[in-house]
Amino acid sequence: MKSVLDFAKKKTSHEKISMVTCYDYWSAKILNTSSIDCILVGDSAAMVMHGHDSTIPMDVRTMAQHVAAVKKGAPDKFIIGDMPFLTHRKGVKYAMDSVEKLMAAGAHAVKIEAQPGHEKIIKHIVDSGVPVMGHVGLTPQFVNQLGGYKVQGKDTSSALRLLALSKKLEEAGCFSLVAECIPESLAKKITAQMYIPIIGIGSGTHTDGQVLVLHDLLGCQKDFQPKFARAFVDLHDIILNAVNDYHKSVVQENFPSQQEVYQ
Ligand code: KIV
Repeated sequence: MKSVLDFAKKKTSHEKISMVTCYDYWSAKILNTSSIDCILVGDSAAMVMHGHDSTIPMDVRTMAQHVAAVKKGAPDKFIIGDMPFLTHRKGVKYAMDSVEKLMAAGAHAVKIEAQPGHEKIIKHIVDSGVPVMGHVGLTPQFVNQLGGYKVQGKDTSSALRLLALSKKLEEAGCFSLVAECIPESLAKKITAQMYIPIIGIGSGTHTDGQVLVLHDLLGCQKDFQPKFARAFVDLHDIILNAVNDYHKSVVQENFPSQQEVYQ
């Protein structure tokens, strides 16, 4: 996918959209040669790459560095950069400076974790020529207000609020939404009632696409594997075995061999 127009086309032609997170150059190089539709440089980098226990410590300078590294590795992919915690809550200038940093680093669009009231700043960003992907449901930057990483929109009133928010974000000009951890029936309703594509994570089978954290789908994190995050390979054990084999070869003096030595 090359532009936001391709997102709209996929929705019209009922083709699913695949999105994956990426934060660094070497994995971006692999993704660039893959068939994945688009890349999200998510603020989940705070947890996956920097070891924080939430996405709250992420800042825009660090996000821009991740975007720049991904852009160098995956120049052919559509890249969405995440707006970190509070960047769109500190006034228009701060929001626009943050957008500028992500776009100058190579993003084609930004993603904003949205709550009611964010439509105005989103419209301003869109009107400035920057495509915005909204993010609804479980919005990790709100973890302290949500009381944990919990499924959202389970009761009728919160489901109606989420549907209304999604429609407002579409009206504000979002080209797509991420719907994180909402019941499948609600995700189905939102997907059916919206013109823009809904990309789900932990939100069932009916959305217009799916997004996963790369390290979850690669099976890198043994200690954290949410129900929805299928590991398509056990990279944790593959890496562990490779490093242990290397260690053994060093201590047993099997590495380097004569073929690996400059004479
Ligand atoms: O930051 C992130 O990786 C995300 C996805 C989980 C949607 O927002």
